Amino acid sequence: SDYDQPYRPQVHFSPEEHWTNDPNGLVFYQGEYHLFFQYNPFGNQWGHMSWGHAVSTDLLHWHELPVAIPEHDDTMIFTGSVVVDHQNTSGLCTHGDCLVAIYTGHTQTSEGIRQTQNLAVSLDKGRNWAQYPGNPVLDLHMADFRDPSVSWDPIAHHWIMAVSLPKEHKVRFYSSPDLKQWTLLSDFGPTGDTNGDWECPNLIRVPSSNSARTIWALKVGLNPGAPQGGSGEQYFLGDFDGKAFHQSHLRGSHGWTNYGKDDYCAISFNNLPKDQKPTLLGWMSNWQYAAKIPTTPWRGQMSLPRRLSYISDAAGLALKQEPVVAPLRGKNYELSALSINSSALYGSGHTIQPPFEIRLQFGHPAEAVFGLRIYSDQQHWTEVAFDANKKEFYIDRTHSGAAISPDFPVRTTSPLITTRPYDLTLIVDRSSVEAFAQDGTIAMTDLVFPVSNNLQIQIFPDDAKPIQSEGQLWELKSIW
Ligand code: FRU
Repeated sequence: SDYDQPYRPQVHFSPEEHWTNDPNGLVFYQGEYHLFFQYNPFGNQWGHMSWGHAVSTDLLHWHELPVAIPEHDDTMIFTGSVVVDHQNTSGLCTHGDCLVAIYTGHTQTSEGIRQTQNLAVSLDKGRNWAQYPGNPVLDLHMADFRDPSVSWDPIAHHWIMAVSLPKEHKVRFYSSPDLKQWTLLSDFGPTGDTNGDWECPNLIRVPSSNSARTIWALKVGLNPGAPQGGSGEQYFLGDFDGKAFHQSHLRGSHGWTNYGKDDYCAISFNNLPKDQKPTLLGWMSNWQYAAKIPTTPWRGQMSLPRRLSYISDAAGLALKQEPVVAPLRGKNYELSALSINSSALYGSGHTIQPPFEIRLQFGHPAEAVFGLRIYSDQQHWTEVAFDANKKEFYIDRTHSGAAISPDFPVRTTSPLITTRPYDLTLIVDRSSVEAFAQDGTIAMTDLVFPVSNNLQIQIFPDDAKPIQSEGQLWELKSIW
């Protein structure tokens, strides 16, 4: 197989060919991480939605398998989750436990579109799936009712589903003893940002980054109408009391899981080993221009997985994200005590090929814009920087290369919290930059289509008061 085309991601999952959007059914089971994904087995545009499938033992090296759940009759297989039914609560397992998928069936009926929640079961580690004959298990006779996120509630000893009523800007919670019978618990919303459809909810118990406490995060996709344009994702932090989600009154209890344009419908893995933090992975694109991504024979890729925790400090609460990437690190360059005056990490004329990772720690900011530029030739660059005057962190891709749609050449921004550290982790792949700043409380993922793979990195400005920075660069090993 060939994963060496222009723009082919080297550290992010993409299907070998054809279209993908949302990740689905993320689950860890018997030593394997499963990544199912919205997939068109017949082409590189959205359609014939089915669940594609890949497995990994480290969340990074993915092995693509045949389509797991194909569309059938007039029903497309929309987004959903997979659970491990440890105690055979469903009665669908034949020996011990099994995997059960809970997905939205999107059916064209004579009265129009109908979206319902359905089950499929796999007795062979996700390779083969059988539809549950009693489908649908949840039907409100609605055209928009989708994206069930199901997990086990270990206290109440039943399943909890978060599912969205997109047009009403609500996440609805249900419980079930057996995945078949569902009882309405509560609705959350409308609140926060309601400029578009609410899709792809995910309820996650998130540990503190520095204590034994936990908090609940509820994230939900918004499309269109996100602050950066098109599709984006907001989160709420608070408490889930077993029946309803209550947003905290503390500052920071409403934020964006990503401040870039290209991370959508992220969900967390079910059934992770206890020593692993909740781990989120999203679709690295935006519905504004997803159909115009200039890649072939595939279209669409996933973000890096990121471990979640939360911080609580003087500025309030925030979700913290740490990308899983360290196992791919190769050759390392120390950038310690690097002065902001130095014009290029590698000196002029030295280039580096993606994928690579940069970690920078800036000293206390002067009144200035400081950060770095990644050039793919003299006229094309992507800028990733802090603006202490505007109190913004940003990625500017207006000069990054191919502008595939009028919505593409933009500068994405996030508010800066001046009391948090000015650090930056940047993962640069062949067609993306993923930035994590301020102790992981800002995640910003943006696609870019540079004019070459020979990149030069410049720290700037060269002539401002020196802001000391230290850092490292690692070449990353391709996952293919
Ligand atoms: C979000 C979404 C989901 C839906 C799926 C269909 O990107 O619209 O709400 O289940 O994509 O492919």
